[in-house]
Amino acid sequence: MTRLLFVCLGNICRSPTVEAVARVEFARAGLGIEVDSAGTAGYHVGEPPDARSIAAGAAQGYDLLPLRARKIATIDFRRFDRVFAMDRDNLRALRALRPHDGVEPELFLGDGEVPDPYYGDASGFDRVVMLAREGVATLIAGLRAQERDVGAHRMADA
Ligand code: 4NP
Repeated sequence: MTRLLFVCLGNICRSPTVEAVARVEFARAGLGIEVDSAGTAGYHVGEPPDARSIAAGAAQGYDLLPLRARKIATIDFRRFDRVFAMDRDNLRALRALRPHDGVEPELFLGDGEVPDPYYGDASGFDRVVMLAREGVATLIAGLRAQERDVGAHRMADA
């Protein structure tokens, strides 16, 4: 089972949005992938997502209500197959926390960033949902290609 972890600063806006979108879209795509999210900072541990993220997600059919913020732990780098940062600041923070035998963190959007919407208006939260959908679609395409490769090699070996 592939396990993916999405990480932002507070774990109340960006990464819970990506977690909620990924849960729905991976299930829709028929992919058995485990997803979770965390923050590099602990300011909001135990709290539900920001009300503006809950609203923006719900408007597109994604339920953030059951999620609760947590802080990333060293063991996460060993438990998850891939660890995705929402921006370069959080990527740097993750690199500093990574144990020597842990997975290398990467940017969720490849070369791009999901901007922090916390101090902005509602449009920033809608943009997070849009970027979450784009990033998850890219991940699904990559995972499908990987499955096809594995299948092709099994056929070749048989
Ligand atoms: P997030 O957004 O990293 O997307 O969850 C933020 C949440 C809280 C704060 C900053 C960003 N904060 O400063 O409390």
